[in-house]
Amino acid sequence: MIIAIDGPAASGKGTLAQRIAGHFGYVWLDTGLLYRAVARDVLAAGADLENEAEGARAAAALDAASLGDPALRSTAIGEAASVVAKHPSVRAALLDFQRNFARTPPGAVLDGRDIGTVICPDADVKIFVMADVEVRARRRFEEYVRRGENVTFEEVLDVIRQRDARDASRSAAPLQQAPDAVLLDTTEMDIEAAFEAALAIVSYVTTRRSAPR
Ligand code: DC
Repeated sequence: MIIAIDGPAASGKGTLAQRIAGHFGYVWLDTGLLYRAVARDVLAAGADLENEAEGARAAAALDAASLGDPALRSTAIGEAASVVAKHPSVRAALLDFQRNFARTPPGAVLDGRDIGTVICPDADVKIFVMADVEVRARRRFEEYVRRGENVTFEEVLDVIRQRDARDASRSAAPLQQAPDAVLLDTTEMDIEAAFEAALAIVSYVTTRRSAPR
């Protein structure tokens, strides 16, 4: 079983993916961490994020054991990740890792931008998580405040708008809803309501699939 969860920055897709994986006893991969780790390694090498060859090199050498690094969660690394993620050869170098992970039995939940469109086009369930940009910025801002990061709401909103624009406008695997994905708009939902709605989508899609024609 493969469940693909895509959506823009701070849409809540990561929390949802983690909860769905826990509920069904599946493994979970936050694929944003891969791009964040590549950005971290490019910066650590003193290279330019716009340099595609450096990005591809870092992606090919990526150590999956380093994905738990708390530094990957910062705003700055999120921004840098969005830059390296536009390079086609960086995306290509990360493809096999994601596809192999998706095949983990008995099931896997992957969240990102292109899981339902490029990484796992045959996923059993595809959910596209959306929320108004101001609501997403508010959630992210509150998360940063809890972590003690010194940012304003306006700064977070601005960064999310830029990230949305970059992720959606790039030519390689842009953020877009797969035609067979179910849209989940969490603007008016808290995490519990969003989780219940996501479970209902999983149940609906898997039941419909297994029903005799
Ligand atoms: O989900 P996130 O904020 O951790 O992602 C960081 C950046 O990585 C995001 O701005 C775009 C990129 N990304 C991507 O291009 N494809 C994915 N599947 C996941 C993330």
